[in-house]
Amino acid sequence: MTVHFIGAGPGAPDLLTLRGRDLIASSPVCLYAGSLVPEAVLGHCPPGARIVNTAPMALDDIITTIREAHEAGHDIARLHSGDLSVWSAMGEQLRRLRALDIPFTVTPGVPAFAAAAAALEAELTLPTIGQSLVLTRTPGRASSMPANESLTRFAATGATLAIHLSVHNLAKVVADLLPDYGGDCPVAVVYRASWPDERIVRATLSTIEDALAGSMERTALILVGRVLDSDSTAESSLYAASYDRRFRPQTAGSRFAGGDE
Ligand SMILES: C[S@@+](CC[C@H](N)C(=O)[O-])C[C@H]1O[C@@H](n2cnc3c(N)ncnc32)[C@H](O)[C@@H]1O
Repeated sequence: MTVHFIGAGPGAPDLLTLRGRDLIASSPVCLYAGSLVPEAVLGHCPPGARIVNTAPMALDDIITTIREAHEAGHDIARLHSGDLSVWSAMGEQLRRLRALDIPFTVTPGVPAFAAAAAALEAELTLPTIGQSLVLTRTPGRASSMPANESLTRFAATGATLAIHLSVHNLAKVVADLLPDYGGDCPVAVVYRASWPDERIVRATLSTIEDALAGSMERTALILVGRVLDSDSTAESSLYAASYDRRFRPQTAGSRFAGGDE
């Protein structure tokens, strides 16, 4: 049978892909990362499904559970929060399933940074202000950071930062970013984007610690960058009335006139 790895999204049960929802609904076994995937998402499981919270399990036990379900002839929905391409621990599971010759599929999900940006009603790339988004984190007990990926290095680029797994480490984040971004740089912290208890705190690099006052310990995303400045008037040329483009040639002499591709 097949193990379906599914990005379960940021939390809201209707922020899954249709494919992900349908795979959950057709799998009689569901393993979910209960530290971040809320029970509401499990409402997509079929009646009578075997539902296993893997948060307290070691990797070997998870693989044993999967192998037993596979041998019993059951499809398995394997849920991780957000999207599977970042901080999901999917890679190590796939390696073991390949070694065991157990088939699997991978279905993407809505990542936390996108849900946080939606909660903020923010576009994270703006012309001339910020054209790059860095998804990063600070070191944790279980994960050190490669030396070249320090926050201070990313800060030197001035790119918009989406800092995961770090709200408990806010003082260090602020200290690392202040020299390059400046104290007036906008910061937003989004706690549990799309959950019923979602919370947003907006401040600047110099005020964010006081604004949060330690009120969020986990499941929060820190966004930093000038693109969060709500007064910004930067606009893309793409839709400017005068912009000559393939889909809207401005003159008969335009290189796009003539209707070719
Ligand atoms: C282990 S990572 C999982 C990332 C996930 N795979 C994704 O695509 O976003 C967990 C971190 O993602 C962020 N996160 C996950 N869900 C979130 C949510 N609903 N709201 C805000 N941040 C969230 C937090 O920074 C949290 O510490």
